[in-house]
Amino acid sequence: MTSSGFSSQARSQPAKPAQTSVHAMLAHQEPSGAFLASRDFAPYHYCWLRDGSFVAFALGLAGEQGAAERFHRWVARSICGISGSVQEAVSRRQAGGSNVVGSMPPARFAVDGAVCHDDWPNFQVDGYGTWLWSLWEHISRFSSDGLIDELAPSVELAVAYLEAVGLDTCFDCWEENADAVHTSTLGCVYGGLRAAGSLLGSDKASRRADDVRGVIESQMTLEGRFVKSSVSTDVDASLLWLAVPFGATRAGSPAKATTAEAVAESLVLDGGTRRYPGDTYYGGGAWPLLTAWLGWYRSATGDLAEARRCQAWVEACFDPSGRLPEQCGGRQRDAASYNYWVARWGPPAADLAWSHAMYFVLWDQLQDQAVLPSPGDGLPAARAAAPNPPIQ
Ligand code: BGC
Repeated sequence: MTSSGFSSQARSQPAKPAQTSVHAMLAHQEPSGAFLASRDFAPYHYCWLRDGSFVAFALGLAGEQGAAERFHRWVARSICGISGSVQEAVSRRQAGGSNVVGSMPPARFAVDGAVCHDDWPNFQVDGYGTWLWSLWEHISRFSSDGLIDELAPSVELAVAYLEAVGLDTCFDCWEENADAVHTSTLGCVYGGLRAAGSLLGSDKASRRADDVRGVIESQMTLEGRFVKSSVSTDVDASLLWLAVPFGATRAGSPAKATTAEAVAESLVLDGGTRRYPGDTYYGGGAWPLLTAWLGWYRSATGDLAEARRCQAWVEACFDPSGRLPEQCGGRQRDAASYNYWVARWGPPAADLAWSHAMYFVLWDQLQDQAVLPSPGDGLPAARAAAPNPPIQ
């Protein structure tokens, strides 16, 4: 484990869980630079562009420039390794052809950057946008402009890919629903193209980003709030991403606030935030990373008490050895679907790098705020219980 730049920073209060999360993220990095999604859950022994890009962002906030940079170089190498399939997908689309779902650039890679030839629902566009955004954040934070030229071939491939297929149907960020255009995916595409506009000085990418935002605003709302996708009016917690970090909504957009309230109200489980109504993955529990996201949104909109409550909820999900799982929510989860997944893949991820990342982002946001309610205020006593009690 490398020493944490974060731990040497002067911070206003002791931060055991935040420090734990930095160490956990670093411990999920492979020598190649890839971040395993989870070490303790075999199906997640890969690096997702989505998870990894948020982990790199959080590590950047923590001052871990080297680890974040190793990840960005790993992504760039991995994308160069699939340049043929990216170019093929782009040319096919430019010629008016349809996407070939089975041969699109992947959502996740093996840690050596190899493409896994399995039946994973790989055609997920969001990760390419999220990576460009994360890279831009990194370069801006550390003034590491030299990376722009070094990684330009991969950045250009990712941009061409987003420009060609960014408005198309694909699997969503939960790796489901292949037959729809997903609002949060569009948010990631917007964030990536906007970042690329700055990284490459590309007016074309910036204009395309504006087009994507136009689609989000004109086609992905109903009754004043954003909807999950082109075929579902559901609420989905990933809709928060439109606001933070991607800023894919105009300032003061009423849909942004209404959507966040809908997420807070209709996706609450045991005080945390679920992915979407009817989620059955491992019982459809509450996700620390999404609860932290709601806290991030609250913090960004000035509701510090609520942000702090979200932080405390996530902190209660750490187990005594500092692991932060994919899901919490104990017995309120659906037992049948929880048991179905346990029988299929074994116990769920007890330590997820992306959970640590979003916890750290929220913690970091709240560091510079004024006097806040102490963590634990408004937290039901039961939350202190182990996050993943067995469900009968
Ligand atoms: C989630 C994805 C995530 C992957 C790895 C899946 O269960 O739906 O969003 O990228 O796990 O963490």
